Amino acid sequence: MNVADLVAQFMQTFGRRPTFVARAPGRVNLIGEHTDYNDGFVLPMAIDRDVTIVGASRDDRVVRLRSTNFGDETCFVLDRIEKAHDGAWSNYARGVADVLQRAGFALCGFDGVIYGEVPIGSGLSSSAAMEMATLMAFAAAGVGGSVPLALDGAQAARLAQRAENEFVGVNCGIMDQLIASLGKAGHALFIDCRSLAYELTPMPKGVTVLVVDTSMPRSLAASAYNERRAQCEAAARLLDAPALRDVSVETFERRRSELPDLIARRAAHVIYENRRVLDAVAALRANDVATFGRLMNQSHASLRDAYEVSSEALDAAVEIAQRVPGVHGARMTGAGFGGCAIALVDDAQVGALTQAVLRQYPQRVGREPKVYACVASNGASWRML
Ligand code: GLA
Repeated sequence: MNVADLVAQFMQTFGRRPTFVARAPGRVNLIGEHTDYNDGFVLPMAIDRDVTIVGASRDDRVVRLRSTNFGDETCFVLDRIEKAHDGAWSNYARGVADVLQRAGFALCGFDGVIYGEVPIGSGLSSSAAMEMATLMAFAAAGVGGSVPLALDGAQAARLAQRAENEFVGVNCGIMDQLIASLGKAGHALFIDCRSLAYELTPMPKGVTVLVVDTSMPRSLAASAYNERRAQCEAAARLLDAPALRDVSVETFERRRSELPDLIARRAAHVIYENRRVLDAVAALRANDVATFGRLMNQSHASLRDAYEVSSEALDAAVEIAQRVPGVHGARMTGAGFGGCAIALVDDAQVGALTQAVLRQYPQRVGREPKVYACVASNGASWRML
């Protein structure tokens, strides 16, 4: 569905013309998994799949949103924002409105039609895309108002994360919102999740990031995610550090035997993964895709064996990809427990890799995967129509 289709839907639903379009992208994380909530380093890129909202402001305090994905409509009043039932898509929009108002912004009501092409529940951050797209829609709806919604990209991401943590009730880190906000075409984004300092790093030429969607819904993701977070906090406490970010590989290896085995393995993943991100950024700067790919492979092995957040389906997708000539590296991406894997592959071998996955994955897993190339894309934006 393109913007013209959404404009037509808007006119059919609301009987007037929309005045703005707001959008935000999904993401893949190239490397740096489960490091963001340990104050560590990540290297995601925004992808060419968006959540898009076409809308027009209202002169009252009502927000009416129609979702084309769910064929469903929601309505709330800005003066009294209540949470919809658990799992409702509108909670992301409600949460963003609530958090923006608590932060002191005066919002304007709007009518909107929303459409997401980021697959839902497959680890490509459709929720962060929805939050950032809603935030952009409020910015567009308020144009000409007395208090313009003037926020820089990192502040906007923090507010969207707060909406997810405090309103939706998911205890995620900052990575997904930051990349949905600050991504740039042709670039990956190296982020220090403690200071929120970031640096755009050009993606190398001649290679493609291929997404393999395992078609397996993430299971137990929320409870296992919170459990991993708690284990990391326990490890940092035992190592007398504010966060695992502050523990060097050398200190960890010296003190590893002081930790219970399970906690030590969790900490090992995070501490070595932080170092892999730094090495991967150096490799990107040197245009060394071979080293970059090796680090991706190491990251996957660590997520599988030490952090234990992979799945049989993800491992199958990664192993199939890693054996194809021209693939530099492959790994799961996002929180894990299902969802998507990514591979970094020479452009000329995209067809061969796609064929290998489409043929071998169903034999091993008994499901049809979805495979598509993605392109590093721009973060959230809005424009008047
Ligand atoms: C999810 C969370 C992120 C991050 C990743 C794991 O995507 O939303 O904050 O923790 O998992 O790297």
